[in-house]
Amino acid sequence: MGSYGKLARRALDTEMPVMVQIQELIRGAKNAVSLAQGVVYWQPPKQALEKVKELVWDPAISRYGADEGIPELRESLIKKLRLENKLYKSSVMVTAGANQAFVNLVLTLCDAGDTVVMFAPYYFNSYMSFQMTGITNILVGPGDPKTLYPDADWLERTLLETKPAPKLVTVVNPGNPTGTYIPEHLLKRISDLCKHVGSWLVVDNTYEYFMFDGLKHSCIEGNHIVNIFSFSKAYGMMGWRVGYIAYPSEVEGFGTQLLKVQDNIPICASIISQYLALYSLELGPEWVTDRVKDLVKNREILLDALSPLGEGAVKGGEGAIYLWAKLPDKYVDDFEVVRWLAHRHGVVVIPGTACGCPGNVRISFGGLMEKDCRAAADKLRTGLEELIRDGMVQ
Ligand SMILES: Cc1ncc(COP(=O)(O)O)c(C=O)c1O
Repeated sequence: MGSYGKLARRALDTEMPVMVQIQELIRGAKNAVSLAQGVVYWQPPKQALEKVKELVWDPAISRYGADEGIPELRESLIKKLRLENKLYKSSVMVTAGANQAFVNLVLTLCDAGDTVVMFAPYYFNSYMSFQMTGITNILVGPGDPKTLYPDADWLERTLLETKPAPKLVTVVNPGNPTGTYIPEHLLKRISDLCKHVGSWLVVDNTYEYFMFDGLKHSCIEGNHIVNIFSFSKAYGMMGWRVGYIAYPSEVEGFGTQLLKVQDNIPICASIISQYLALYSLELGPEWVTDRVKDLVKNREILLDALSPLGEGAVKGGEGAIYLWAKLPDKYVDDFEVVRWLAHRHGVVVIPGTACGCPGNVRISFGGLMEKDCRAAADKLRTGLEELIRDGMVQ
């Protein structure tokens, strides 16, 4: 029974999910603390949880709901998109999280064999979504070496030179794994370039509320643009699995085709989760930003812990919940460093290889409260100091 012969190439040729490998590493390393997973430490709003508690006996909660989402939530989201994101011509589909939203879009917009574009370091799940749907021609563009912004000049050349033109370009704003945000003028330029050659632009706004240092997140709209959002981080709803797609209302057939995919994956997002999302939205974005602003302290603590890597080694972090750090040149095998840090120093981070950039690590500052973050940072600093001084001693 040892043959892979009957398993699909689409699965075999897809990367292993890095988080699954990291969870194994955490289980195997005694008392390891995690700066790895992209999570927040807070729970959903108490008021919203209290309200859904009342709903569990309602038979409607246990039935299927409308594929595109419960009407009350979609209505609320349309209002939110107008008010907060300045998206006036978008329709909404509620999904079981932003990852499922992305898979829905790949299946709706791309065919196997199409060319697509993303930027390094990239969000590993988006890369895998392409691979497992037969889109193996993935062009990965560079980021600016200093700012890590997507290189729009490279994009311009690539979109003009690639025939047929890439079907879809995707960016994450602000980014995972770097925390770098995309300024509005750059987003606009990327959008114009896509429009010019007829490529879709998919923008993942999972971290829309996670902006620091007075920076402002913005969205753009157009008949070639699709925006993705998530309740996971903002409202501490990771396990409830709710996200949504804002797609251009004017594009005929978009919603109809999207529904085919939706009906065959979750049918609908969990109904009770959608109610939790609805009640959470009622508290307004301030509920989220109040919590996000406390993360600045965690970022500062971890920036300090990363200082042994030297000046210029750490980038990003102006948005989302991530810092991106370059290991010394000889540590191209970042997974080896990650394993060593876990086993010897009890702290876990994500290897940059998983995001297409070997020799780097991603550090998440969202998952721990300040006190625990300090303890993790101490371990990280001690580990990095030893790495620089003595190498990966056992
Ligand atoms: C950029 C990005 N998109 C999507 C997701 C997945 O979000 P969800 O839990 O809504 O599927 C994550 C989670 O880490 C993310 O960082």
